[in-house]
Amino acid sequence: MGELPSVEQAWRAALFDSTGFYREQWPARHFSTAANTGADLAWALSRLARTHDLDTVVDVGAGGGELLTALHAVDPSLHLLAVELRPRPSRLPPRIRWQRQLPTELHGLVVGNELLDTVPCPVVEVDAGGTPRVLLVDTDSGAEHLGPTVQAADVQWLERWWPTATPGSRAELGGPRDDVWASMLDRVSHGLAVAIDYGHHRTTRPTAGSLRSYRRGHRVPVTFDGTADITADVALDAVADRVGGSVHRQRDVLDGSWLAPAGRSTDVSGRLDELMRAGRRAEVRAAGGLGELCWIISTRG
Ligand SMILES: C[S@@+](CC[C@H](N)C(=O)[O-])C[C@H]1O[C@@H](n2cnc3c(N)ncnc32)[C@H](O)[C@@H]1O
Repeated sequence: MGELPSVEQAWRAALFDSTGFYREQWPARHFSTAANTGADLAWALSRLARTHDLDTVVDVGAGGGELLTALHAVDPSLHLLAVELRPRPSRLPPRIRWQRQLPTELHGLVVGNELLDTVPCPVVEVDAGGTPRVLLVDTDSGAEHLGPTVQAADVQWLERWWPTATPGSRAELGGPRDDVWASMLDRVSHGLAVAIDYGHHRTTRPTAGSLRSYRRGHRVPVTFDGTADITADVALDAVADRVGGSVHRQRDVLDGSWLAPAGRSTDVSGRLDELMRAGRRAEVRAAGGLGELCWIISTRG
């Protein structure tokens, strides 16, 4: 057995290497996010932008451009930019700009919908003596092994945000997610940034961690061969603290006043459309589902 990679290294390779999951797969084929459940998220974000006199929305990690397509439909005069590793989808409205690299300077509303949970981070497990050790993985067999003790910067993060000494407990160290969102905010000269993701706070951390995989709509055993997504919930309070943001639950943000106005059709197909829209609206606010997503909102300028 050669030297094993850490779970973080294997996770990064599985998602982002040249044949990794996000180089080859469209997210919407594997899991559903609020971005592909209709116009309500888009409507709320367009209201947020307009309320702050912003006419540009940048979607970082835009997937197939579903959110920006919906934004274009609800507010066609918005300037829209997708930042995404995947190539531009062929049927995207021409008004949506698409690029791989983040601009050095951003103005407007910057959104990262379910972006941070895919940022690989160190996974640790507490050994029998109460010491957190970096988790290693044999990517062929999936067997996990305890590796070295945690590095100094990670010890600080762990002690502050996810203290744990119970043998067998696990933690996902959110430093790399904090860094990604902080470097995003560093580019925003004027505007708002909203990271939307599943996550936890200091009092609600999952003792066994939350690392998991999805493939074609199903949760599957954590897989490092690039055929499945790998995700772990975000330490929301740590990200918010780093960027000076506030955390709000999606179902509270998307209260009635933010949502698209309800229709009043009298014909059968119009009523059917409205029923479907009402179903999608319930989905993005559902307790125990998409409604539990949290928005980390920060302002600059
Ligand atoms: C979980 S998917 C979410 C897609 C979309 N935001 C949604 O809500 O349906 C994460 C997306 O972020 C993209 N991504 C991850 N890291 C990125 C990076 N550094 N730059 C640009 N896109 C990135 C991936 O290619 C993938 O499409």
